[in-house]
Amino acid sequence: MKKIGIFYGSSTGNTEKIADLIKNAFGEDVATTINVEDASLKDLDKFPYLIFGTSTWGIGDMQDDWEDFMEVVEKADLKGKKVALFGLGDQEIYTDSFADGIGKIYEKIAKKTTVIGAWPNEGYLFDESEALKKGKFVGLIIDEDNQTKLTVERVTKWVEGLKKEFV
Ligand SMILES: Cc1cc2nc3c(=O)[nH]c(=O)nc-3n(C[C@H](O)[C@H](O)[C@H](O)COP(=O)(O)O)c2cc1C
Repeated sequence: MKKIGIFYGSSTGNTEKIADLIKNAFGEDVATTINVEDASLKDLDKFPYLIFGTSTWGIGDMQDDWEDFMEVVEKADLKGKKVALFGLGDQEIYTDSFADGIGKIYEKIAKKTTVIGAWPNEGYLFDESEALKKGKFVGLIIDEDNQTKLTVERVTKWVEGLKKEFV
């Protein structure tokens, strides 16, 4: 399998933890995690396959470091790459902006590259989410605040699906 770069932004460590789980599910020989706080355009260019992960902060904002890194992503040539997305949020407290951050990243990149790894919205309870497009989430959604018991199973299933597309 070609190399996968997992770019994540995390304020209290939850998204970092999920990035590590995803890396381990692919295997360290294939996947590398990179905190967007320290990432550059060169890092993006290195990988044919990319995974972007963000939590949601404020009301529906992408994680702070992603706000800055998005400017770098917008300069990158993503044509010919495959990109998968994952987002973290809290569906109980932020039920009107659940995991919006990853929906915002999707909006910025969808026309420039191939986004893969859509995820069903069954098993979540929320009112609104910008991560929901045409009845599916744009990528894997994880809720460490309320559904941490489901996390490993969700990550495993999502990665199994991606392995068929990251070939
Ligand atoms: C001040 C604050 C604002 C938040 N805003 C949202 C939000 O709008 N939507 C959402 O789904 N989750 C929201 N969350 C929940 C976080 O996204 C969630 O706890 C996440 O797991 C944090 O991940 P991180 O530690 O990787 O940053 C918020 C949490 C805090 C403390």
